[in-house]
Amino acid sequence: MQSTDSIDSARQIPAPLRSRDAKLAPFDWYTEMRREAPVHYDEERKTWDVFRYEDVDRVLRDHETFSADRSGSAENPSGDAGSDMAVLKTMISTDPPEHERLRGFVNERFQPGALREYRPRLGELTDKLVDGLEDAGRFDFVEEFAIPFPVTVIAELLGIPAERRDRFKEWSDALIARPEDSSEEAIQRMKRRRETAQKEMGQYFAKLLNERQAGEGDDLITLAATADELNLQEKIGFCMILLLAGNITTTNLLTNAIWCFEEQGITEAVASGEIDHKKAIEEVLRYRSPIQEVQRVAVEDVELSGQQIEAGEVVNVWVGAANRDPEVFDGPEAFRPERRPNQHLAFGKGVHYCLGAPLARLEADIALDRLLTRFDSLDADLSGLRPISEHYGLRSLPCRVS
Ligand code: HEM
Repeated sequence: MQSTDSIDSARQIPAPLRSRDAKLAPFDWYTEMRREAPVHYDEERKTWDVFRYEDVDRVLRDHETFSADRSGSAENPSGDAGSDMAVLKTMISTDPPEHERLRGFVNERFQPGALREYRPRLGELTDKLVDGLEDAGRFDFVEEFAIPFPVTVIAELLGIPAERRDRFKEWSDALIARPEDSSEEAIQRMKRRRETAQKEMGQYFAKLLNERQAGEGDDLITLAATADELNLQEKIGFCMILLLAGNITTTNLLTNAIWCFEEQGITEAVASGEIDHKKAIEEVLRYRSPIQEVQRVAVEDVELSGQQIEAGEVVNVWVGAANRDPEVFDGPEAFRPERRPNQHLAFGKGVHYCLGAPLARLEADIALDRLLTRFDSLDADLSGLRPISEHYGLRSLPCRVS
């Protein structure tokens, strides 16, 4: 996932995506690239871009050729991981067999069956947030629902005491912060902010991990604390990766869902059950994928759709482009809420397939169902939409409700 291991991403945004509109609608650019240059070397960024479903799927599946560990890539020849999350070894930036050691202990907890018992609590959390919104009549869906909901869920699953949750949110924001502009000062400022958050969080998690070694409690920090196969740094990395990987992505899924439903005029039909909302959520994941790109590094020279990629080169796979590939999806530019089959790659593929996919689906399922049925009507203001700098989502989505 780009955010976790790329400090220089502001410099890396390809030219077509730099403008605000293009960042919200990169889809024409994807179409052109899929057709004209499906595997393309970007001279400025010195990375490969991959656009077609078949190629994206292959890169993500073939972890032996395309590594998730970018610490020694051509883009990062010194292996300097000191300034970013790669300094913490986590499942997201390691390859098998190490990857299995770092993920294996927690896999079970994120299976749909294991999450089932958490359903009522997700309903309660939704109700609690919605309670405050009903009276106001208008609210910002992003700020007042889509951001706090997943942060609270992850904080609860980890077992973070309620009084630390605000600080927790600040830390997770700092970890995914991007520089305000591409100047050296802005990049340094962002790095310092990130390093401070990382340090503070590291110390905080180390303390909790230490306190929970006895293994009482069924929260995820206790699970990590008692995982003998992990050292302390790896346990801390596990806690942090959940924050990094699970918050903004779920915020974007919830936001993009309301955005799509309102744009298509189907909010009521989803609320009433006339449209199957589980399928509609899958279509949101395909049509407005919260993560549009994922990175790998080639570990050996390899040919991909006629292009020669050299060992050490970074390969940027455009999941968002693959999800609109007409070779795989019928009418890919149309939002079809009950599309079947819908084998999108929004959660990745292969060994790094999103650990939290069942949780994200459950959160969206419960939150959207509860939220939409609580209001007689919901109207989102879709004028002047502004993209977030990280991943694919909106800064705000003003809504009027009655
Ligand atoms: C991995 C997407 C929610 C935890 C990934 C990957 C994608 C992704 C594309 C693969 C990255 C790669 O191959 O490099 C999403 C989306 C989400 C979401 C779109 C919401 C809609 C969550 C949640 C959590 C989570 C809620 C946890 C609470 C993870 C972790 C990994 C991961 C730990 C790394 C897995 C590994 O490397 O084995 N996610 N994610 N994600 N995700 Fe998610």
